[in-house]
Amino acid sequence: MFFEYSILGTTLLGVLISLFYCGVTGISPIPSSSPSRSCILENLPENLTGNVCELGAGWGTLAFPMAAALPDLEIIAFELSPVPWLFMQLRDKLTRRKNLTIHRRNFFTDKFDDVSLVVCYLHSECLEKLRPKMESELKAGTLVLSNTFEIPGWVPETIHHLEDSFCPQVYVYRVPSKTV
Ligand SMILES: C[S@@+](CC[C@H](N)C(=O)[O-])C[C@H]1O[C@@H](n2cnc3c(N)ncnc32)[C@H](O)[C@@H]1O
Repeated sequence: MFFEYSILGTTLLGVLISLFYCGVTGISPIPSSSPSRSCILENLPENLTGNVCELGAGWGTLAFPMAAALPDLEIIAFELSPVPWLFMQLRDKLTRRKNLTIHRRNFFTDKFDDVSLVVCYLHSECLEKLRPKMESELKAGTLVLSNTFEIPGWVPETIHHLEDSFCPQVYVYRVPSKTV
């Protein structure tokens, strides 16, 4: 009985913490769907140098397969919400991906250094807030893959339309050149 109450209490605590962080970030840790994940993995360029950043990595649905697909690059996954972050830590202990770094941090507070690819599944309001940071810290031409949501103010290089009502498109962007 005590064991059952402990499990129930831990689950409830996890749910409450996750709800709190949904309020903080405005986004739930909902994972990319299988078709959108495949699309993103298929569109990872081959000749990249520099770091790959996943902004809001959730449970690692994209971060772990990306680390496997790009073994020569450093994948940096940011996740603020403790429960999915903890899940990724456990997953990392099992898979031991040497090229994956998982930070429990707000990606707005880190400087994007030597980043050649950004991957995200965030909503448009957050992407609008993120756009000036990407424009000032990323090199022009840096690739940005955004699952489902457009980056307001940027023109996509390509839109992959998917037969998936959950994540119906993946947007491919290049950071625009700075206008003086
Ligand atoms: C919709 S989920 C996507 C998860 C994962 N990228 C995927 O595609 O499966 C978005 C995640 O971003 C995280 N997030 C939102 N804003 C954040 C921020 N400023 N810093 C770190 N993580 C953030 C949320 O906690 C959530 O887990």
